[in-house]
Amino acid sequence: MVEASLIVKMVEQVMQSNIELNEKIVKIELGKKVKGTLVLKINARKPEMDKIRIAADIIRKGGTVAFPTETVYGLGADALNVEAVGKLFEAKKRPPDNPIIVHVANKKDVYRLARDVPKAAENLMTKFWPGPLTLVLKRSRLVPDITVVGLDTIAIRMPKNKVALALLKESGTPIAAPSANLAGKPSPTTAQHVIEDLAGRIDIVLDAGPTKIGVESTVINMTSSPPEILRPGGTPYEGLREVLSKVELHLLAKAEKKVHINKAISPGMRHKHYAPEAEMVVVEGELEKVIGIVRGLAETHAAEGKRVGILATDESVSSYQADVVKSLGSRENPAMIAKNLFGLLREFDKEKVDIIIAEGTPLEGLGLAVMNRLRKASNFNILRV
Ligand code: TXA
Ligand code: MG
Repeated sequence: MVEASLIVKMVEQVMQSNIELNEKIVKIELGKKVKGTLVLKINARKPEMDKIRIAADIIRKGGTVAFPTETVYGLGADALNVEAVGKLFEAKKRPPDNPIIVHVANKKDVYRLARDVPKAAENLMTKFWPGPLTLVLKRSRLVPDITVVGLDTIAIRMPKNKVALALLKESGTPIAAPSANLAGKPSPTTAQHVIEDLAGRIDIVLDAGPTKIGVESTVINMTSSPPEILRPGGTPYEGLREVLSKVELHLLAKAEKKVHINKAISPGMRHKHYAPEAEMVVVEGELEKVIGIVRGLAETHAAEGKRVGILATDESVSSYQADVVKSLGSRENPAMIAKNLFGLLREFDKEKVDIIIAEGTPLEGLGLAVMNRLRKASNFNILRV
């Protein structure tokens, strides 16, 4: 847990700074403790260095820091410190065979962490970093087994977020960071989501407001030929196609149906994904038909006395009546749908519905990542109409 001396140091730094007393008081009050976890508000555009230093100090001492990235909040620890990485698994209750993405602030670190980096991977780094793209490469000996759960590969990314980059630079070490949720919950897109899941289990949360993209990074395996997308995410398939002459979509990335996964080929990807408390069904197809089917399903379930939730879009939301109806945003704006997705799934969990009926959304751009998450959340209970 955070040492009291660090907080005293921060207060001293603020008090000595050259700002008005009122402003000093506001700055100090921005820090609060929830169940022993320090929550520090931080400016997303111009992160205050005194706060970054506190967090970096915790990383260097082997502690855990939740921080924003452009995709979702991550829970970070020194990637090269065995004990620190162990705390990530413990805090998240993460299955011990699910490897963790290592975050870097400069490309030089890639060559310390990985070996035999192919030219195609370098091209992707040039085009998409910093940004929501994770490259799976052959690992170096520097990386401890626990970070990559003993695999011969390592997943690396450079996040496009000022707080994340400042924290990485100030820590002076690569940071291993899974999404900052309890295993099996939707990834956190706000600091509040992190607090709900992890308060009391981690040292500090840097709260810079909601994340921009809302779904996790795209994970692409660069050790296979052709490269293969293991998880669709913030970097769309269409963009990768422009740089790579050939790229494949893993069956799991498509998530069209349940697939049996060979651990040796796709480590960690077999894990139980987010599954809501409620039963869930995804209805996919032409919008008019989808609306008809969703309405029918809602009526049937309501007649059985169930509490029904519908996950709709702006174009359809007024067509429905149910206990809880929420819109993901316009079908013409997959980026907005991606941004809203995880927050809405968390809201549905709180509403205690018995069934969630979700519309399928378009697959272009970030839509592929959205549908991957929705189909998995439904445990592949998909109705194609
Ligand atoms: O956007 C993101 O990627 C966020 C932010 C915090 O950076 N992180 C994130 O981490 O989503 P996590 O742990 O929730 O998901 C990491 C995914 C898992 O599916 C894991 O199995 C896969 O990356 N992965 C990690 N290392 C791998 C490896 N060596 N080979 C194959 N897959 C790997
Ligand atoms: Mg995750």
